[in-house]
Amino acid sequence: MSSKVTVPKIEGSKVRNGADPLVMVTAYDAPSARVASEAGVDMILVGDSVAMVVLGYDDTLQVTVDDMAHHVAAVARANPDPLIIGDMPWMSFHVSVEETVRNAATLIRAGAQCVKVEGGRKRIKMIEAIRAAEIPVIGHVGLTPQSANVMGGFKIQARDAHDVRRTIAAAKGLQAAGCFAVVVEGVPDLAGEMITDAVDIPIIGIGAGANTDGQVLVYHDVIGLENRFKPRFVRRYGTAYEDQVASIAQFTADVRERNFPGPDETYKTNEALAEALGLYGSQPK
Ligand code: KIV
Repeated sequence: MSSKVTVPKIEGSKVRNGADPLVMVTAYDAPSARVASEAGVDMILVGDSVAMVVLGYDDTLQVTVDDMAHHVAAVARANPDPLIIGDMPWMSFHVSVEETVRNAATLIRAGAQCVKVEGGRKRIKMIEAIRAAEIPVIGHVGLTPQSANVMGGFKIQARDAHDVRRTIAAAKGLQAAGCFAVVVEGVPDLAGEMITDAVDIPIIGIGAGANTDGQVLVYHDVIGLENRFKPRFVRRYGTAYEDQVASIAQFTADVRERNFPGPDETYKTNEALAEALGLYGSQPK
């Protein structure tokens, strides 16, 4: 039986019905997709966070559909078992229904099995159109980084009762529009729990407390490769930044001290070639 995770395996996966919490991690290239797959996660999100985590931008607004397709394709080439989610970047689902569906299709043709769209009620029309093109969609509410300029930065959302109710209504609207899961980001834990209780599709939290149907984190945060700042909701499981600095520093020292390459890392010149070069009995320089 295939161990590939599919959309039907995810939708309906609710902790309250006895399911294990779902695990989603971002990945942006083939090696990280291989690692995520071997580690056994359920879903790989090729997130627009690639803009900040990998490409060095200050926000996620700088990446295009072509950028995202490039990274989705790299992940897909690793042929990982987890479900591959292509993140729809800012302005790829805001202009017209036709453009939106075409952009979603570009990510599917690059190798994603579904797409993720940020935003609540305002995005329903576009989500319905993507679904009508047979493309499964994940919603994303709460702190939506593509709205950072409107929100005044990367700020925790749903901080008052009105906003919590608005976010619950948004999640319900996304479910009604055909989303098979919703990411909820940056909300107080009670809001995360209430949103999870309010819908029958899985709620995947990031900074949304423990009582959701799953958790997502950015790959570079999990392995400790992103070491510049640590949001409260991140738990670092590794020291990849320090480990990599140590590896490259050791390589640097070995080259400078003429410890690299050693005999085992060298293609030896055979005697026939040495003789032909008139160097038999001595090592060629
Ligand atoms: O792009 C991303 O990494 C995301 C996650 C934070 C959910 O949208």
